[in-house]
Amino acid sequence: MATELKSRAQPPVRRVRERAIAVQEAERSFAGAHGVAVHALSGLSLHVQRGELLAVVGPSGCGKTTLLELICGLQAPDAGSVQSEPAVLMPQRDLLLPWLDALDNAALALRVAHVPRAQARERAASLFEELGLAGFERARPATLSGGMRQRVAFLRTLLAGKPVLCLDEPFGALDAITRAEMQDWLGRALQREPRTVVLVTHDVEEAVLLADRVVVLSPRPGSVVEELEVALPRPRLRTDAGTIALRERALAALARGSRGSHGRHEPPGPEPGQATQARAAAG
Ligand SMILES: Nc1ncnc2c1ncn2[C@@H]1O[C@H](COP(=O)(O)OP(=O)(O)OP(=O)(O)O)[C@@H](O)[C@H]1O
Ligand SMILES: [Mg+2]
Repeated sequence: MATELKSRAQPPVRRVRERAIAVQEAERSFAGAHGVAVHALSGLSLHVQRGELLAVVGPSGCGKTTLLELICGLQAPDAGSVQSEPAVLMPQRDLLLPWLDALDNAALALRVAHVPRAQARERAASLFEELGLAGFERARPATLSGGMRQRVAFLRTLLAGKPVLCLDEPFGALDAITRAEMQDWLGRALQREPRTVVLVTHDVEEAVLLADRVVVLSPRPGSVVEELEVALPRPRLRTDAGTIALRERALAALARGSRGSHGRHEPPGPEPGQATQARAAAG
């Protein structure tokens, strides 16, 4: 798949065609501390059309990362089925390799696919300017800002050349201004280089600004509480009446999901944002 972001002056119309991802009644549990099973996903069903950007919002620990890992084939459901076109994960933390410069980090997927280093760097370099990274090709990750690191990580994901991108909280760690810039940038990048995208976010507004459709998950065990079509023209503004109305609907669905979860007998989960660390610690 071509990765030249500059090649087309006019962004193509995003067309929704065939199904790229189908998740049917997926169940996933993990062995938790003290032998108590953690039920992460329960009867979760969703689909994503080819070329569509689906945002998934839900409270911390409701199984969003688990869902992306299922879609990418990094783990399998205990029951139900998950089918997807080849998918690549941009993990919740950028996981850049500290000993490689920005260009080698961005080109990592190409190197893994046995593309010679000079050629891989050249392909990554051609996109650096487009991503506002020109001049930082030889910088180590530790010397880059959070937004730049995220862009390098996104580039690495894009260069993997898979038709489906699973983005796990790509802007979660950024300040509000950088986050807004990155949202604009991602919207433009995907208009120029359409892919099927599953975007996990805590931020309902971000979901409405970027997505074709928003799926709201319940607290753990995660299942779909509501699906919202976002039939608003792009670019969208935070202050548009349509954006605000859909944001309120998604927030209401989140609140409904939380109320519906009362009375479930689940062991207490991690604090917000700690589910991934909890999993890392669990190995
Ligand atoms: N490999 C694992 N071993 C044990 N528990 C796990 C594992 N993976 C996930 N979990 C648990 O499953 C639940 C869902 O985790 P997941 O990381 O999918 O949530 P999340 O919605 O991505 O959370 P956050 O928004 O904080 O990133 C959590 O309670 C987590 O601790
Ligand atoms: Mg997560």
